[in-house]
Amino acid sequence: MASASPSSMHSGGPSSLVTGATGFLGRHLVRSLVEHGHTVTALGRQCPNLVTPSGVRYQYGDILNQRCLADATRNVSVVYHLAAIVPGKGGQAEQWRVNHYGTRVLLQACIENGVKRLVFLSSVCAYAPPLKALLDEDSPTGGGDSYGQSKAAAELEIANAATNSLSSVILRPSQVYGPGDGGFTAMLVSMLSGKYLYTAGRSPRPFSLVYVDDLIEAIVRAGTSRAIGSDTLNIAGPPTHLQALTSAYAAITGHEAKCVPLPIAVVRLAQELRWFSRNLSGNAMRPRWKSYAADQVYGSVLLGGPEYSVNRAKLALAFEAKTSIQKGLANVLNSHSHDSSVNSNVLNNPH
Ligand SMILES: NC(=O)c1ccc[n+]([C@@H]2O[C@H](COP(=O)([O-])OP(=O)(O)OC[C@H]3O[C@@H](n4cnc5c(N)ncnc54)[C@H](OP(=O)(O)O)[C@@H]3O)[C@@H](O)[C@H]2O)c1
Repeated sequence: MASASPSSMHSGGPSSLVTGATGFLGRHLVRSLVEHGHTVTALGRQCPNLVTPSGVRYQYGDILNQRCLADATRNVSVVYHLAAIVPGKGGQAEQWRVNHYGTRVLLQACIENGVKRLVFLSSVCAYAPPLKALLDEDSPTGGGDSYGQSKAAAELEIANAATNSLSSVILRPSQVYGPGDGGFTAMLVSMLSGKYLYTAGRSPRPFSLVYVDDLIEAIVRAGTSRAIGSDTLNIAGPPTHLQALTSAYAAITGHEAKCVPLPIAVVRLAQELRWFSRNLSGNAMRPRWKSYAADQVYGSVLLGGPEYSVNRAKLALAFEAKTSIQKGLANVLNSHSHDSSVNSNVLNNPH
């Protein structure tokens, strides 16, 4: 793959574009880039919802709009591409349009405007099932559902568009949690604060979670490090499990939900029925069964998931998942920013 060192990066603060700036991760990233002295253009479609720190230029726009992207990428050295339709937030067709075609449109604008580096937020969901117990970056990709497939297709677009002047770093995070996430994190807190917690079997299978600050640090380094060229890197925390989360929550709040183990097959069947009914009840997804077998699940609070090797990210970015579950959960609870508007499918469709 091509490699390039963004030349203007450390001189007077690099000029960065963030797509998906209004989302959970985008808002954290914009804040962090400003703290690192970057000049930031934040691309989004919901200007009023973006609390804009000083040093940020907000640009209204859609990722599918070529003219808008041509404007947004002008005089920019690093593009952080986060805009996507994540599971539960749109139908299959929109997922393909935004996640796959949107990446193609953005790539073209990056090349035409001489952007030096593109950091793309892909996902562990880009791996192709059946999933091995330990997945490194050389494991086969292709995705399982339309989200993973669209991410894998976007990765291919990026690989095929590699040039000597544009280096691209593809990050594949596992499920992320942290303050400001009305999806997975809000659902997790609501589960932990309940009276009963249903678990799949007596010792639930571990799964990978990464705290938002640890991921954001990796994203910023991926955009600014002179030491790397084009690369693809998993970003994940060490595997954890429901009992560890319950204990951490109890240590912080004094409340411990009572775990009620159910047979694993029952939990799988319940998840499959829920997936089917959700698709049937119309978010434009084609109704179909989704397998919740162990080698199909990327990371689920209930059903666990594989381990994602981060050896490459440690070497390339000095990545470290340094936030403990207890510290991360405490930050979430202190932030008062988790609201009740949780998305009902997030626990079992990590992205
Ligand atoms: N959160 C995780 O656990 C996780 C894990 C792995 C990978 N990722 C990846 O990280 C990225 C950010 O995830 P997130 O959790 O922050 O998701 P999010 O909160 O749903 O944010 C998605 C962002 O994409 C923007 N977007 C969607 N369609 C767009 C369009 N047509 N044009 C312009 N912008 C558009 C949204 O803007 P609007 O506000 O205008 O809709 C929003 O800012 C995604 O690429 C996701 O696949 C996330």
